[in-house]
Amino acid sequence: MLEEKGYEVIETLVIPDDINRIKTELIRLSDGREADLILTSGGTGFSPRDCTPEATRDVADREAPGIAEYLRMRSMEITPRAMLTRGVSVIRGKTLIVNLPGSPKAVEECLGFILEPLEHGIRVLRGNVSECGRS
Ligand code: MTE
Repeated sequence: MLEEKGYEVIETLVIPDDINRIKTELIRLSDGREADLILTSGGTGFSPRDCTPEATRDVADREAPGIAEYLRMRSMEITPRAMLTRGVSVIRGKTLIVNLPGSPKAVEECLGFILEPLEHGIRVLRGNVSECGRS
């Protein structure tokens, strides 16, 4: 779905629900690899081991709550269980980090909701467009 929308996927990885490991990878991908966008999948629920939102918040410079709010709003039209994801969306440097739920079905639904509007936000974050309406 990402490549269809013109995104280049520079890295994918699978890591355990270990808060320090998640933080390390988020920092490496944003500061080291200078990714425009990091999408995490899973670890956003109520299970005691779910810690992706905590790891994401810990590495954030700024919050970008609208993305997570929109994901929950649109997802709850599909299933009320969408209220059970604690996913957050934040900015670290020039990288946007968005937590998605774990199931492939949920990821597909969520990407469908956000990929297009995200493009503008990423351009603004990178300094390629100064404000809404201008290119
Ligand atoms: N969001 C969408 N769009 N579609 C889904 O099927 N499943 C929910 C929710 N968000 C779902 C969704 C369910 S059942 C759970 S438990 C939470 O995401 C958390 O998932 P995670 O623990 O795999 O991150």
